[in-house]
Amino acid sequence: MIPQWIIERKRDGHALSEEEIRFFINGFTLGEIPDYQMAAMAMAIYLKGMNPAEIAILTDTMMRSGDVIDTSAITKPKVDKHSTGGIGDKVSLILAPMVACCGVAIPMVSGRGLGITGGTLDKLEAVEGYRCDLSTEEFLRVVDACGCCITGQTGSLAPADKKLYALRDVTATVPSIALITASIMCKKMAEGIDSLVLDVKWGAGAFMKTVADARILANSMVSVGREMGKGVSALITDMNQPLGRCAGNALEIRETLQCLAGEPCDDLMEVTMALAERMLLLAKKAPDAPAARLMLQATLDSGEALAKFKEMMRLQGANVAMLDEPDRLPTAVLQKDFNALRGGFISGISADHIGRACLTMGAGRKRTDDTIDFAVGISNLAKIGDQVEPGQRLLTLHANDAFKLEDAEHLVAQAFTYADEPVARTPLVAEQMG
Ligand code: URA
Repeated sequence: MIPQWIIERKRDGHALSEEEIRFFINGFTLGEIPDYQMAAMAMAIYLKGMNPAEIAILTDTMMRSGDVIDTSAITKPKVDKHSTGGIGDKVSLILAPMVACCGVAIPMVSGRGLGITGGTLDKLEAVEGYRCDLSTEEFLRVVDACGCCITGQTGSLAPADKKLYALRDVTATVPSIALITASIMCKKMAEGIDSLVLDVKWGAGAFMKTVADARILANSMVSVGREMGKGVSALITDMNQPLGRCAGNALEIRETLQCLAGEPCDDLMEVTMALAERMLLLAKKAPDAPAARLMLQATLDSGEALAKFKEMMRLQGANVAMLDEPDRLPTAVLQKDFNALRGGFISGISADHIGRACLTMGAGRKRTDDTIDFAVGISNLAKIGDQVEPGQRLLTLHANDAFKLEDAEHLVAQAFTYADEPVARTPLVAEQMG
């Protein structure tokens, strides 16, 4: 097969055969097809798209480019959750222990944030000693011992994706439904799960700006997962404002502990519950959503979910004393409230500006090799629809550098919009599939 002929066929809008897709991706992974041809192919896919059968083959080929974890020794149903991500999204940290308490195994391979705030692994690393570089054996041991484990992607999990993602990043080919679907699903399918729940975010702070676009991505991922023989559900959830009241790594660990301790966590817990319910239904642990919710609530009320989170963290090397006494978590030297500039109803909170403020203070990475300041970020964040008086606190900034704090203040000042009349809140779960 000749690579340029295959590129030409995709460029002209034809569906590629299984042989063509496997030849191209395997050749690229092995270094036999150079980056410039893969870049041209990625652009052809971006422009012409792929049909569901092509996307399923692309996903399968990328999954098989590395190890597929053998979880057959774990007898419990194995279910994971994937989110397309957004500011303040710490759902995995709360959901994994809750669902594990209900008899489901959650072998979760997670990522780091490259965007404006840290990813799941960065948040967990705010706790001293926590290891996300487990070998496959260690990973399976933790899942077997406590029901859940959150670790990082090893070099042998879907290497084709790692290579292709780096190329997409610099060739303006990231936002392709086919390529996003294959990239996300190949990693999840390599975890050896039975079922998957997808949280596809829509809104100003998400990759997908409209429900319609989020629906297209969700449909694509659901159909590929099912084609590959897995149970898949998807929720389309709101990311028009940050999720929860904190953004920043150690601050989000504190918020996680509060949620697991049963303290009111409004929108954050509502999204967590909705996703966790779908996981219990896919695992056939509950007959319907209300029954699933009761089971999940019981894990919070009994303190079991909080204990499970600590157990998972201990098994992954964390200093659990920091979780028993959250004051021992990294804490910023400077804390300053940002107050409402006028009275009225909050009509918008730009997740992008809040995220950029966090990044400015050091909560995320501008480059892949940047180090993160775990202590910094924001807390006490107001919510869209809140009625505020002039001068009322809208959030608290946490920084370790006065200049960065000032820059962050300018950014958060642009994050809020106000209305004179009450503002309706958009539903947190816009749609559900499966
Ligand atoms: N996350 C991924 O893992 N891959 C993409 O292409 C987009 C988001």
